[in-house]
Amino acid sequence: MEFVTANGATIPALGLGTWELKGRSCARTVEQALRAGYKLIDTAEIYENERDVGDGIRASGLRRSEVFVTTKIWPDHLAPRELERATKASLARLRLSEVDLLLVHWPNPRISLDETIAALCKMKQVGFARHIGVSNFTVALLDQAVKYATEPLVVNQIEWHPHLDQSKVVAASRRHGMAVVAYSPMARGGVLSEQVIRDIAVAHGKSPAQVSLRFVVQEGGVVIPRTARLDRLTENLDIFGFTLSEDEMARIRALARPGGRIVDWSGAPKWD
Ligand SMILES: NC(=O)c1ccc[n+]([C@@H]2O[C@H](COP(=O)([O-])OP(=O)(O)OC[C@H]3O[C@@H](n4cnc5c(N)ncnc54)[C@H](OP(=O)(O)O)[C@@H]3O)[C@@H](O)[C@H]2O)c1
Repeated sequence: MEFVTANGATIPALGLGTWELKGRSCARTVEQALRAGYKLIDTAEIYENERDVGDGIRASGLRRSEVFVTTKIWPDHLAPRELERATKASLARLRLSEVDLLLVHWPNPRISLDETIAALCKMKQVGFARHIGVSNFTVALLDQAVKYATEPLVVNQIEWHPHLDQSKVVAASRRHGMAVVAYSPMARGGVLSEQVIRDIAVAHGKSPAQVSLRFVVQEGGVVIPRTARLDRLTENLDIFGFTLSEDEMARIRALARPGGRIVDWSGAPKWD
């Protein structure tokens, strides 16, 4: 496992995404992932699986310090009192006294960002979160958030995969010392049929999924692929024993295209 450092945080470069995993199968997948060598689990209050994620962590037998747990607060809960209530509710469902990373899931223009960021910082100060950060923040929103923060923001979690050029927001995150966590790092499977990725996979004796994940990790990102299949858990983890050449990286970068974004909705900010 490789690690990424950011503003005082050390973050595993690969974790398990858990959106859409639910119930006992979610708990089993989390347990198996941790037993296979995953060190980071990504959940959110909106995924309605924090209880199952907590069960999986306990069933893995790993010590608490060996698992990096991220959860996210839904944009309806960004007013200070609501944020605190939502954080406590997430911790109660996870049955943890603190998470490793607490994120604002999406910006909410109807709630003042300075109040949200102050409340988020308080969650770190009172010990509910070891680290704090944001998700789906644009360059402009990042600049504002950093200005308001009295504690370091360590992560911006954004959609990032070979079909989507995120160089502007990645550069802004870096400028602020933050790590970028790439969600939907395989575009939910959409990049796996690209001939360029298939050819590079064959050249390395790897799968297209491993090549797309490796691409983002080599760009300096953290990847959180989701799968409910045990064979794919181990496949997606096995991305640290090979290196893509600069030419291969450039060929994969060239797959970025307008319309490559897959996660978008009416509440999304104006993307960079
Ligand atoms: N912050 C945010 O707003 C936000 C938004 C979206 C997602 N996320 C987080 O990011 C995580 C990952 O993103 P995602 O779930 O959208 O997409 P993803 O990880 O890019 O893709 C998941 C899909 O790929 C398939 N898959 C997984 N491994 C594979 C492999 N080796 N070969 C072929 N197919 C494979 C999975 O199917 P099987 O289960 O059948 O393997 C699943 O259908 C989420 O689970 C969530 O934790 C965050």
